[in-house]
Amino acid sequence: LFAAMPSPTSYRFEGVRPCLSKAGIVAQVGPGVTDVEVGDHCVLAFNSACGTCDRCSRGRAQLCRIRMKTMRIRMKDKDGKDMRQMGIGCMAEYTVVDRPSVIKVDKSIPLDKASLVGCCVTTGVGSVFNKARVEPGSTCACFGTGGVGLNVIQGCKIAGAKTIIAVDINDLKLEGAKKFGATHVVNPTKDGDPVKAIKTIVRDGVDYAFEVIGLPQTNEKACNFSCAGGTMCMVGVAGAKDTMPMPLVLNEKTFTSAIYGSSNPRRDFIKLLDLYQGGKLMLDELVTKTYKIDQVQSAFDDLFAGVNLRGVLVMGAQPKM
Ligand SMILES: NC(=O)c1ccc[n+]([C@@H]2O[C@H](COP(=O)([O-])OP(=O)(O)OC[C@H]3O[C@@H](n4cnc5c(N)ncnc54)[C@H](O)[C@@H]3O)[C@@H](O)[C@H]2O)c1
Ligand SMILES: [Zn+2]
Repeated sequence: LFAAMPSPTSYRFEGVRPCLSKAGIVAQVGPGVTDVEVGDHCVLAFNSACGTCDRCSRGRAQLCRIRMKTMRIRMKDKDGKDMRQMGIGCMAEYTVVDRPSVIKVDKSIPLDKASLVGCCVTTGVGSVFNKARVEPGSTCACFGTGGVGLNVIQGCKIAGAKTIIAVDINDLKLEGAKKFGATHVVNPTKDGDPVKAIKTIVRDGVDYAFEVIGLPQTNEKACNFSCAGGTMCMVGVAGAKDTMPMPLVLNEKTFTSAIYGSSNPRRDFIKLLDLYQGGKLMLDELVTKTYKIDQVQSAFDDLFAGVNLRGVLVMGAQPKM
């Protein structure tokens, strides 16, 4: 199994252990499952979709009625007691998941790269295509260029945006953002107020502003990145009790948000991996470093130090194809 490291910002919430995104090989199939075989390669969706409930049927698979079931405890220890795990249980050589979490993928795709599609790529690119619906020739800004933000940026590039402004306090991430399609970068610790900095690049503000950090203060700023009539899309997950002032109706802005890139894993994982195989989506460049499972502590140290675009944990050998 291969797992991409999550966002360190997710650790702000006490008691919550974020699930990682994961890819692997099917080792065993439970009763009643007829369309997945031992040896199949798959990417696991933590926000899974049954495909048949009223929400899935109405094209809102990201809000599927059963999606939270992936969070239930599915493993027992040798004494039959429930084992604690979060989500799809990523930091292990084996995990047990529900059938809807399993998306079969082409065996020629390296699993360490495919694992990224389980969260940050789907969330970032999906927010651009499925929710904000960025148009060719438009102007965009992305506040926060971690694993998810970089994928908002490459999504905007694929969508044909003419101006893409990356905003982050970490220069290493901003360097990465340039590789992923940013036309301009802003570091508020050096360049001052990012709203002013953005308006020196695009006079009235951008058509599409994305917040990909998850803080009330950065959400408020990102509202002001967008022009009158523009769209602000919240991707970062703020605390349940956080609040944010909204600008007045006068500027007719659209505020929206996207969970899991408003994606349907069955449709979008395959689409994204097709783009990767066609050379249009960058996954290789997203992995700065891979770690063996016994190096998990240094993977977390590097995560909190912000030195990787994404780190990937490797729980076994990459299969030879
Ligand atoms: N909507 C969804 O379905 C979904 C899915 C996955 C992750 N998320 C959320 O998206 C957010 C980003 O996730 P990620 O994995 O990219 O995280 P990350 O930690 O890799 O990236 C966060 C980036 O924000 C920057 N940053 C932090 N504080 C900042 C500040 N005050 N000003 C400017 N930049 C700042 C960091 O330098 C970093 O580059 C998190 O809130 C995460 O919980 C949402
Ligand atoms: Zn459903």
